[in-house]
Amino acid sequence: MCKSAIKDTFANEVIDFENYLRATFDSFKGIPNRLKSAMGHSLFSGGKRLRPILALWTFESLADSSLPEDRERILSVGVALEMIHTYSLIHDDLPAMDDDDLRRSRPTCHIEFDEATAILAGDGLQALAFEILSDIPAHGAALVNDLAISAGPAGMVGGQQLDLDNEGQDLSDSLIKEIHSLKTANLIAVSIAMGARLAGLNSDKLDAVKSAGMLLGLAFQAADDILDVTSDSITLGKTAGKDMQSEKPTWVRYEGLAMAEKRMMQYGSSGQQQLASLLPINDSSSKLLELVENLWERDR
Ligand code: IPE
Ligand code: IPE
Ligand code: MG
Ligand code: MG
Ligand code: MG
Repeated sequence: MCKSAIKDTFANEVIDFENYLRATFDSFKGIPNRLKSAMGHSLFSGGKRLRPILALWTFESLADSSLPEDRERILSVGVALEMIHTYSLIHDDLPAMDDDDLRRSRPTCHIEFDEATAILAGDGLQALAFEILSDIPAHGAALVNDLAISAGPAGMVGGQQLDLDNEGQDLSDSLIKEIHSLKTANLIAVSIAMGARLAGLNSDKLDAVKSAGMLLGLAFQAADDILDVTSDSITLGKTAGKDMQSEKPTWVRYEGLAMAEKRMMQYGSSGQQQLASLLPINDSSSKLLELVENLWERDR
């Protein structure tokens, strides 16, 4: 999915992350077969894995360690992020929410299995994410706190409520910004912030990193809304054209494609500049700053 010079580096990092994700997932015993299959169906199906790699490369930009145990810890943070994100997608696709039957180029979890199993698969992934984080030495409790706040009712879940409540409603700039911040930008921002926390950044700097991540997350959701009208279902791996049909609260519906594109670029470049000002200059930070452009300059 990466369009820039770091394409191969990103692809290799994704392979490494996915091996770790697979090994971690397989290590959990005692999950009923059908539930584990449903969780695995959605987890191993070609997601872009942006959140884990954002966490990993932020960590590498800021940490002065290349110890194998530190790499394992940040990969575990990535696994937790990807599990929370995948749970949010499984529930987002349910008939009671966005009612989608295609996700990551495969039938959605409730189509492949059934609604009850899809609800439980999401619940299961969410609990596993916190179990994994809580086991990370030294930073476990703080990381659990970071992710719980970002994914919870005053974060992603709250944003999903507002997204659904505002289908077909009159929109304002500030309302859309609130919805997109809550439902999407939070999880992008916390991915970067958790990488920074594990690298030992102090809390003032963590807040600044999180604010840069929020701008990047807004650009990311703006791109998602734009791709819904400019791309097709095969490229996206999910049904194109659904947002307009459901009259979703998007900037495209509010102000048209051209303005939404302009806004996306503005949020994206300010987020990138803010993040750059908080990072040392090294190979990892240049990779990361290139990667963040793919949050909005992407084709899927
Ligand atoms: C889709 O996220 C949902 C949004 C928050 C817009 P991604 O575009 O990261 O989806 P995957 O993980 O690549 O499938
Ligand atoms: C989803 O936003 C945000 C989540 C918290 C999952 P969308 O509903 O726009 O995501 P897609 O387009 O279905 O991936
Ligand atoms: Mg949705
Ligand atoms: Mg959706
Ligand atoms: Mg969308």
